[in-house]
This record gives sequence, structure tokens and C-alpha cells, in this order.
Amino acid sequence: MACVIIVGAQWGDEGKGKIVDLLTERADAVVRYQGGNNAGHTVMFGNKTFVTHLVPSGILRKTTSILGNGVVIDLAELIKEIEELEQMGIEVENRLHISDRAQLVMPWHKTFDRLREEQKGEKKIGTTGRGIGPAYEDKIGRSGIRVGDLLEPEYFKTRLEEIVDEKNQLLEHYFKTNEPPFSANEIFSEFAEHLKKLKPFICDTALQVNQLVEQEKNILFEGAQGTFLDVDHGTYPFVTSSNTLAGGACAGAGIGPTRITDVLGIVKAYTTRVGSGPFPTELFDKDGELLQSVGNEFGATTGRPRRCGWFDALLVRQAVRLNGVSGMAVMKLDVLDKFETLKIAIAYRLPNGELTENLPRSLENVTPVYEEMAGWNCKTAGVTDYEQLPPQMLAYLERMSELVGAPVSIISTGPKREESIVLNPDQLWL
Ligand code: IMP
Repeated sequence: MACVIIVGAQWGDEGKGKIVDLLTERADAVVRYQGGNNAGHTVMFGNKTFVTHLVPSGILRKTTSILGNGVVIDLAELIKEIEELEQMGIEVENRLHISDRAQLVMPWHKTFDRLREEQKGEKKIGTTGRGIGPAYEDKIGRSGIRVGDLLEPEYFKTRLEEIVDEKNQLLEHYFKTNEPPFSANEIFSEFAEHLKKLKPFICDTALQVNQLVEQEKNILFEGAQGTFLDVDHGTYPFVTSSNTLAGGACAGAGIGPTRITDVLGIVKAYTTRVGSGPFPTELFDKDGELLQSVGNEFGATTGRPRRCGWFDALLVRQAVRLNGVSGMAVMKLDVLDKFETLKIAIAYRLPNGELTENLPRSLENVTPVYEEMAGWNCKTAGVTDYEQLPPQMLAYLERMSELVGAPVSIISTGPKREESIVLNPDQLWL
């Protein structure tokens, strides 16, 4: 039995989807515990590329897939995704389970996300516009609506009327827009339709997860976004609105910390970020362009180009600590194939001139101090034999591992699941 959390060690888009897919073969269930359809998990399945936003990427294999209580759900988008999967011949019913405690993303959440970003102008967060922040605000503010509320129409209707009234006040008097007010009646009918499709999927998923633990099953917890988008430990306020860290899996799935057996950190061999916020090793030159084009660094959810930069060891060392990472999967190494020289940030010079090897509270205006390493400058894309990896790549991996304080468990050399080298199968725990 194993309960393994898969977590992004940078700003998201590290390639969690591929690794979840790889490990799903040995798992009985895959559970998502936070975020919503702001996530985009890209998985190659045969020759087809799938991007899932809400449904755990484990759905592509024959595993139980669970959306835990910590997830925020846009029902219309979820139904669209389920239908797309079904059209591709993937069976979803009886394999996807949705927590009755998960919060709903309501129409006002999406509207307010957009209006707030417009109001902020230059200072915008660069959100995905999916209503994620406002949905989590309402959850914490106790003004949210949960999936299970739909099962009690009278209660749902009364709650909707109370909340809609407040949201319309905000729309008119705070945002001062000419947009039509929200209608409780229309939303009630729309959600009643959604319920018809989704009712069989709704259950107490925390009970289900704990029963799987009692049956000694293998469970994967699939994190969305990445460590530095965590609302507590990320580059606040340029973060998402949930706890993306491994610790978030316990509250977001309803499982005790003593049940977790391992944490696999997913690390891109360089760094990327989507949206606004500080990024010390960001490149604005041809090296950055090369990373972006070879790595196809465009957001899976919004299609926005990802900002690219060198590997930042301070960032990943902090992620190893915050998540208790016990092994790393290093992704997209082949994207570095064409570089003569590689750089790794090993310290920052702070605005006051001091040097630090630990991540400061603010990453604004720090200057990275780099160590240079020889690139391998040869094709490694698709290599699956460890012995065939160039010595410069092995040296790069060894140095990464030493700097961040965690062993490398998986090396990824391409998007397909076969393009992976598992260093020690026992280290994969499942
Ligand atoms: P939100 O999650 O839509 O509120 O966006 C907040 C910040 O998190 C923005 O900078 C987004 O670009 C970023 N973000 C949200 N989801 C992802 C993701 O799955 N990958 C990378 N960045 C993300």
C-alpha cells in the first residue's frame, strides 16, 4: 500500500500529467485535491495528446479518478470535459467520483475574476480567468455553494437567492458595470440540468479514499499548479488561491498525514512561469526564446506563452523542504540538448547587496548568482537507456540533486510515457 503525492516544485507546468500517467499503471486511484480548471495536464496517450483541466489525468488508464473536497468545480466545464473524454472512447461513468463537499465555481466568480483583473490594469495577477480566486474567497468567507447542496433543491434555492442578492449589489455598486444582474432562477434551472448528468458521480470521497487506504490500495494524489503558486508559500500576491503544497493533499482529500508514504517532486530542468510576478532567472534573450520554442512553452489552459529561464536551485531546494520531497522526476531535459553552456542559480544577491542561498520572502529585485556547467550539445530526446545519457547530462543531474537536497528518481526525455528512465523502480513506492 502506498499514498504518493505528486507535486510541482516550481511555478506549475512541470509535467505532472505525464508522471501521473506513468505511475497510474501501478495505482488503484488518482485523486485531485486542490485547484480547478485553471490547471491543464497534458498527457500523450498513444499518438494522441490529451489535456485534462479538471478530471484527474489518471482517467486515461483504468483507475478510479477522484475530485476531492479541496477542488473548486465549474460544472459546465466538467461536463464538457467528460463528454470530450467519452467521445474519445474513454469510459468516465463509474470511474470518476466527485466530492459532495467540493465547492462550486459560480457564474459571479468568473465575472468578478475578469472585472478585478481589468480594474488592476498593469498590476494584474494574470489569472486564468476561470473564477478560481473568487471561488476560494467565498469558500473561506462561508458564502460558497458545495456540490452536495445541489442534492437538496430547496436548500440550494434559498442559499442561491441570498448569495445572488449580495453578488448583484457588488456588480452594480462596487464594479459599477452595465452587465446584466445574475438571476437565481436561471442559475437554479441551469444547475438542475447539470445535476441530472452528474448525480451518479457525487459521493463522500474522503470516506472513499480512507476505505481505499484501509484496503491497502495504491493511491496517487495529483497536485495542480506548483509550489510557488501556493497561497501561503508562493510569490504572494502573484499566486493561485489554494495550497498547492503536498500538505494541501491532506485537507483537500480528507486523509491524515500519517497515511502519506511519499512525495514525488516534479522538476523541470529549467524554469517557466505563466502570468505576472517575480521570476529571478527569467531570460529575455535568444536562450529564453530557444527554451520557449524547443520546449513548446505555451500554457495548456490559456495558450499564453510561458516565461522561460535557467534552473533555479534556491527555488527547488525550498520546494523540497516545503513539500518534504523524497524523490524527483526531472522533466524536459531534452529541451536543453542544443545548449553549449547551462546555468544554474545557486544564490541571490539581495537589493541591499547581501548574498543568500535561502529563498527570501520577496523575489522582487534579487539578482541570481549563477554557476555554469557544460551542456551536452547532442540529441537525447527519446533516449530510454541510462547508459546512453551523455556524461554532461549526468553531471548536471548530479549537481541539481546535490544543490536541492533530493535524489533523482525519474528522468524524462520526451512527452511520451515510454520516454522516461526510472532510475530505481523501488523508489517509486507503488
Ligand atoms: P488563477 O489560479 O487563475 O487565479 O491564477 C493565478 C496565477 O496562477 C496566475 O499567474 C496563473 O497564470 C497561475 N496559474 C494558475 N494555474 C496554473 C497552472 O496550471 N499552471 C501554471 N500557472 C498557473
